[in-house]
Amino acid sequence: MSIVGARPNFMKIASIARAIEDCNNTWADRFIEHLIVHTGQHYDNRMSTLFFEELDLPKPSINLEVGSASHAVQTAQIMERFEPVILEEQPDILLVVGDVNSTIACTLVASKIQYGGTARRTRPIIGHVEAGLRSFDRDMPEEINRILTDALSDILFITEESAITNLKREGILREKIHFVGNVMIDTLISHTEKAKQLDVLASLGLKHEPYGVVTIHRPSNVDSADMLKVVTEYIGRIGARIPLVFPIHPRTRFNLDRFGLSDGFAQSKSILLTEPLGYLEFLNLLIHATLVLTDSGGIQEETTFLGVPCITLRNNTERPATVSLGSNHLVGKNPDKIIQIVDDILSGRGKKGKIPPLWDGNAGKRIVDILVRILK
Ligand code: UD1
Repeated sequence: MSIVGARPNFMKIASIARAIEDCNNTWADRFIEHLIVHTGQHYDNRMSTLFFEELDLPKPSINLEVGSASHAVQTAQIMERFEPVILEEQPDILLVVGDVNSTIACTLVASKIQYGGTARRTRPIIGHVEAGLRSFDRDMPEEINRILTDALSDILFITEESAITNLKREGILREKIHFVGNVMIDTLISHTEKAKQLDVLASLGLKHEPYGVVTIHRPSNVDSADMLKVVTEYIGRIGARIPLVFPIHPRTRFNLDRFGLSDGFAQSKSILLTEPLGYLEFLNLLIHATLVLTDSGGIQEETTFLGVPCITLRNNTERPATVSLGSNHLVGKNPDKIIQIVDDILSGRGKKGKIPPLWDGNAGKRIVDILVRILK
């Protein structure tokens, strides 16, 4: 059983679903029944349904339909609604991905469940995909979700070497940790050709000229009026140098309107605000972008794989390989540094970086091979 809830989960589970299907097609005696449970943390067509279609992700067997709420209410509702589902289905393995509220909520339920009766096991083996990442910033809700999910998981699938040190420091046994690569990059690789066939710039009414992509949605950047004002000023300064496409997350849209900051964008000729884009459209934009400005976790990794310079509007990253090896710059809130890097990129001196080890399109297969071995 795999759990998905929020947008970044879908591309990760897509790779694993495909690897399970390949495994079932290759080895008749290794049949794995795969159930996908959607918590409903994200529910809009553009934040959820569209991704299932584009990624050929099997429809979830169950949708818990929790929707948006405060952290406590959202997490508690997922737990309450997930408990009868796991008791009914009694999966041998529960896979959770990433660091969203759905990840910790379902892990916590599974770690204490008791199947009872004649079940093969008392509870599922819990596998955490993308384990061991640490920003060391406990003000981020995701950091709390990561630490707790890792502490409760039985198998930890990691994307980069920093995770080994992080997990060992927290007392997790080395034999539980498996360095498998990056399932999100698997999905990027398998969808690149399809994404390249689109002409997203034309469909957005833009000319074919160099452009940047912006995505900002972290509470630390968008939930206070002061901070969001500073962020919009950076975006304005960069937009004066290069046209920007800014697909806007519902949280950011809501706060721009709430703080009266939308007008600046509406009047700008060089910054195009769009609805959240589908996976293929967004990937197309990333592939051809001159630079990316973001506070997302996943986009730091996608730009590193694509060799596109990325400027991350955060003080820390849980994905240090994107800075030490990849094309990512951590700039915090330093306006001069941001503009200096933008100017370097525009004059052809942008960071290209290297692809981190095992980001080769086979992480899903490695995970499924390990799961089959454990089940046997
Ligand atoms: C969540 C994750 C974050 C991830 C992000 C990707 C947690 C703690 N955070 O943050 O790690 O980077 O998803 O998008 O799990 N909303 C809609 N439609 C939707 C979903 C959300 O309008 O389909 C709006 C609602 O107003 C909601 C707000 O967005 O209150 C925030 O959604 P929520 O799931 O609470 O957190 P995200 O900011 O999306």
